[in-house]
Parts: sequence; structure tokens; C-alpha cells
Amino acid sequence: MKRETVAVYPGSFDPPTNGHIDLIERSRKMFDKLIVAVIVNPTKKPLFSVKERVKMLKLITKNIKNVEVDTFDGLLVDYLKNKKLKIVVRGLRVISDFEYEFQMALTNRKLYPEIEIIYLMPSEKWTYISSSLVKEVASFNGNIINFVPTEIERLVKLKYKL
Ligand code: PNS
Repeated sequence: MKRETVAVYPGSFDPPTNGHIDLIERSRKMFDKLIVAVIVNPTKKPLFSVKERVKMLKLITKNIKNVEVDTFDGLLVDYLKNKKLKIVVRGLRVISDFEYEFQMALTNRKLYPEIEIIYLMPSEKWTYISSSLVKEVASFNGNIINFVPTEIERLVKLKYKL
């Protein structure tokens, strides 16, 4: 029997953006299952709790087949090893992403040589979007409707009590 191929898309998703959805849609077609893995404690203090980020991801992926949402704490490689998984998907938007991703990929590979990290480019419509920019715009009462799904816009606004 063919073993199912499972990939992990890790991130902070604070909050999930249209760019994240694009990446989920692209990568889930390449594998039998895609696990969107939300980091519990990102380096930067998150706006949304892990529970809220998971809830948002479940909401926006509810109609997307073969996608699961999970959480991880600590090292990504430990999560992968525990789950016996080795394929990771990450998005590459602009050149500045490359340096960070390159360092992270090589560190992860040193820690877990079996890992393979696949980089996908989102549609050019979303190459400039990041969760940080979405938060900055929203914090100054700017319109974020072009950057995140409607349900997420509502929750971000609620956070900033706009
Ligand atoms: O959405 P982000 O913030 O770019 O995601 C970064 C993330 C969560 C994938 C990365 O910071 C991560 O894997 N953190 C877990 C800790 C870890 O494994 N660090 C070593 C990798 S260099």
C-alpha cells in the first residue's frame, strides 16, 4: 500500500493572511495531507493567543480538503521527529525572506538531516503582504480587507477595538 505523503507548513500565523491561504492552497495539492503547524511561542510576542490563531486557521481552511491544523512548541525538528515527518513547506515572497529562510533551512538540516524544505512562491498579488504589516495597518485604523479574509479582518479589528 502506498504511504501517504504528509507535509508540514509551520509558522506564527499572527494573524493568517491571504498569502498564507495561497500557500496552503498550493501546497495541499502536492501532498496527501498538509499540516498547518502553529508555533505556540513565536520569538515576537504574538497579538493572538495560540488558541485564537488555531481557531482562525481552522475557520479559513474549513472548506479546503486534506488540511489539518496543529500546534507545536520548541524546535520544529522535534515536532517533525515526533510525528515521523520530514517534509516542510515555506513561502518565499521577496529577496529579504531568502536570508532568513536559508539560515533556518540549513540549521534545521543540521539538526535533522532527513528534513526536506520546499519553498513556494505565493501569487504576485500577495508578495508584499505580511502578518506584521497587517497588524501595523490595523493598529492605526487602516483598511486590511485586501490582505486578509473577511472573518480575520473582523477578529483583527476586534483585537484593536476598532
Ligand atoms: O511565520 P514565521 O514567524 O516566519 O515562522 C517561523 C517558524 C515558526 C517556522 C520558526 O521560527 C520556527 O520553526 N521556530 C521553532 C523554533 C525552531 O525550530 N528554531 C530553529 C530553526 S532555525
